[in-house]
Amino acid sequence: MRLIIYTGKGGTGKTVSACSTAILIAEKGSRTLLLSSDPAHTLADALIRPDLGTEPKEVIPNLQAVQVDPLVEMNKHYSSILSYAASMLHTKGLDETLAYELAMLPGMTQLFSLLMIENVARTKSFDTIVLDMAASGEALRYLFLPKIAGSVGRKLSSLAGVFSGFSKIFQPFAKASGVPEGVLENELELLDRLGRLSKLMVDRDQTTIRLVVNPDTFSIENAKRTFMSASLYGMSVDLVVINKIMPVGSPDPYYSRWAESQRLKVENAKASFYPLPVREVKLYDNELIGVDMLRENGRVLFETSHPAEVLFKGDSYRFHKEGSSFLMNVKVPFTKKDDFDVERYGDQITIKVKNQTGFMINTIPLPAITFNMKLSKAKLVGDELVIIFEDTAYSGKNTKA
Ligand SMILES: Nc1ncnc2c1ncn2[C@@H]1O[C@H](COP(=O)(O)OP(=O)(O)OP(=O)(O)O)[C@@H](O)[C@H]1O
Ligand SMILES: [Mg+2]
Repeated sequence: MRLIIYTGKGGTGKTVSACSTAILIAEKGSRTLLLSSDPAHTLADALIRPDLGTEPKEVIPNLQAVQVDPLVEMNKHYSSILSYAASMLHTKGLDETLAYELAMLPGMTQLFSLLMIENVARTKSFDTIVLDMAASGEALRYLFLPKIAGSVGRKLSSLAGVFSGFSKIFQPFAKASGVPEGVLENELELLDRLGRLSKLMVDRDQTTIRLVVNPDTFSIENAKRTFMSASLYGMSVDLVVINKIMPVGSPDPYYSRWAESQRLKVENAKASFYPLPVREVKLYDNELIGVDMLRENGRVLFETSHPAEVLFKGDSYRFHKEGSSFLMNVKVPFTKKDDFDVERYGDQITIKVKNQTGFMINTIPLPAITFNMKLSKAKLVGDELVIIFEDTAYSGKNTKA
C-alpha cells in the first residue's frame, strides 16, 4: 500500500492538493482512499459532497473519501486505558476532570486517527491512501509518535512483564499496580498496531510526505521545520508544492509588486528544499472546488510524472553523533569551497552562498539536540556540507564556522 501525506501551514492548499492527487490516482486504476482527520469537514466542501462522513464513501469509481472523527477513533481504541489511567490519578486526590486531561497525552486524538491507515494496510482494502493532514505542527509531531509510542511502550511492557506500558507512565501517581485484564489486552493490541504503523511511516518505498506552501515566508519556514523533523524521524519527503502563485505581467503596479515579491519567495523555496522536486501552481481566478477543477489542478501538478510515484528518494539531511560531537550533513547546490559561509542564529543556521548577483541565504532549522551545543566547523565534502556541533554549552551568542 502506498501512503501519501499532504501537510503544510493552514490554508496553503493541502486539502485541494490531496483531493487532486487522489482523483488522478483513482482514475489511473488504483483503489484509493482519501482520508482527512480535519474536524472542519473540508473534504466534503472541496469535493462538494456534503454526505461525506466517518465511513468511506465513493466519490468517483476507485476513489472513496472519509473524514475521520478523532474523538470517535480515540474512544474506540483508548477509552478503557484512558479511564484506567484517569482513575489512578483520581485516587491520588486529583480532581476527576483534571485527571482525564492529564491522562490524555497531547495530540493523542490525531494519533488515533492514523490507526485507520494501519487497518487499511493490514486488510489490504486499498492500494493507495492520500492523507490530508491537519495543519498544526502539533499534529505532525504525532505522525511520528507511533514510532516513539510503539517502541517505548512495547519496551516498557516487556520490561515490566505484566505491568502495562501506558499505565507505567502514570505509576508514580498510584500505589496500586494491578491492571485490569481488559486494559492490558487493549493496550498490547494498540502497541502492536502502533508498531506496524510506525514501520509503515518510515518505509521510503511506501510512505512519503508532500509539503504544501504558498509563496510567503511564514508557510515556507513552517515547511522547512517539517522537512527537518521528517528527516530526523527517518521519513521521506518527496515533493514541495508551491501553491497560489500570482501570475506575472499585470499592468497594475499593486499586482506586479506582489508577483515580483512572490517570485523571490519561489526562488528562495527552491534553494531551501534542494534537492526535492518543486511544483509550482498558479493562483487560479476562482476557488478550487469540485471534482472537475480538482482533476485539472492534478494534471498541472503531475504533468510529467505519475501522481503516486515516489518522486524523490534520498536524504537531504543526515545526522549522526561522534563522541561528544553531533554531525549534520546537508545536501547543497554548490560545490566550491570559497563560495559559502555558515552562521548560527539561535535555533537555526544560515548558509550564505555567493552567486552572480550577491548572496543567496538558506536558513535551516536545527534539531533540538544541538540547542546546548556550539557550532564548531563546517566543511564541504562532495555535494554535502558537513556541519559539526560540539558539546560545549551554547552561550547564546551567534557563532560562525
Ligand atoms: N491555486 C489555487 N487557486 C485558487 N484557489 C485556491 C488554490 N489553492 C487553494 N485554493 C483555495 O484556497 C482555499 C484553501 O485551500 P485548502 O482548503 O486546500 O487549504 P488547506 O491547506 O487544506 O487549509 P486548512 O489548513 O484550513 O485545512 C480553498 O478555498 C481553495 O479552494
Ligand atoms: Mg484542509
